[in-house]
Amino acid sequence: MRIDVVTIFPEYLAPLELSLVGKARTAGLLDLRVHDLRSWATDRHRTVDDSPLGGGAGMVMRPDVWGEALDTLLGEDGEDGEDGEDGEDGEGAVPGPAGPTVLLVPTPSGDRFDQRTAERLAGSRRILVACGRYEGIDSRVADHYRARGVQVLEISLGDYVLNGGEVAALVVVEAVARLLPGVVGNPESLVEESHGAAGLLEYPVYTRPPVWRDQEVPEVLLSGHHARIARWRRDRALERTARRRPDLLRALPADELDRADRAVLEALGWTVDDGGVVPQPGAVAD
Ligand code: ADE
Repeated sequence: MRIDVVTIFPEYLAPLELSLVGKARTAGLLDLRVHDLRSWATDRHRTVDDSPLGGGAGMVMRPDVWGEALDTLLGEDGEDGEDGEDGEDGEGAVPGPAGPTVLLVPTPSGDRFDQRTAERLAGSRRILVACGRYEGIDSRVADHYRARGVQVLEISLGDYVLNGGEVAALVVVEAVARLLPGVVGNPESLVEESHGAAGLLEYPVYTRPPVWRDQEVPEVLLSGHHARIARWRRDRALERTARRRPDLLRALPADELDRADRAVLEALGWTVDDGGVVPQPGAVAD
């Protein structure tokens, strides 16, 4: 996979040289390139922003500078922003590995970024991350590339406002890169984690020593009894999810809950019926 990040603060992305992402790059599993948006500015001051039309506070990033940057980068694999395989005027396009090219625009007004989005992005051939600053990027940029057949995703990390898209770019690259084949040494560690397929938060974890500052590790974890350990972990995951993320509990498919799951949920004030997982009448479930 190739990921291009465009920003006015290339140094902000330096952590992507470290840890798993850094190793994935060195191993050739991920082709990650960071670009300075100002290198596409044309004036002496390398201006990338202007005041908002219609008035208001702050500055807006200019579409012409972004357009030059994105055209250049999209053109680098011989495509004109089309998906290559099935683009209408894809003649002469170089077909790459499977998966689309995605233009990702972090913004507090975007769709919420979550593990499902990360999984979807991990199937892309290329991702271009356009990091906005100030009040954001002129809206015509996203509209233009959408109209040209590029998949454009405007995503938000959460309900708070950051100073720009760089932190979101770090988050997205890490969340996606660890899903690429070969990046995480033991792929089993991806299976049981929070926001995985089970739809639950992860159970609490422990390591040695078995007693630390008078706190003992739950005895079942030392029993070597795999079925009992699995049940204990599932119960704790259900409890934790009920307490911290009742929205995730409500989204659980009832047919994936066994009798023991239902008993735990009942004890926590939830009922499982045809309508799914719902709070018991009168129970304070949130
Ligand atoms: N840029 C500014 N705030 C953001 C947020 N919450 N998520 C993604 N990008 C942003």
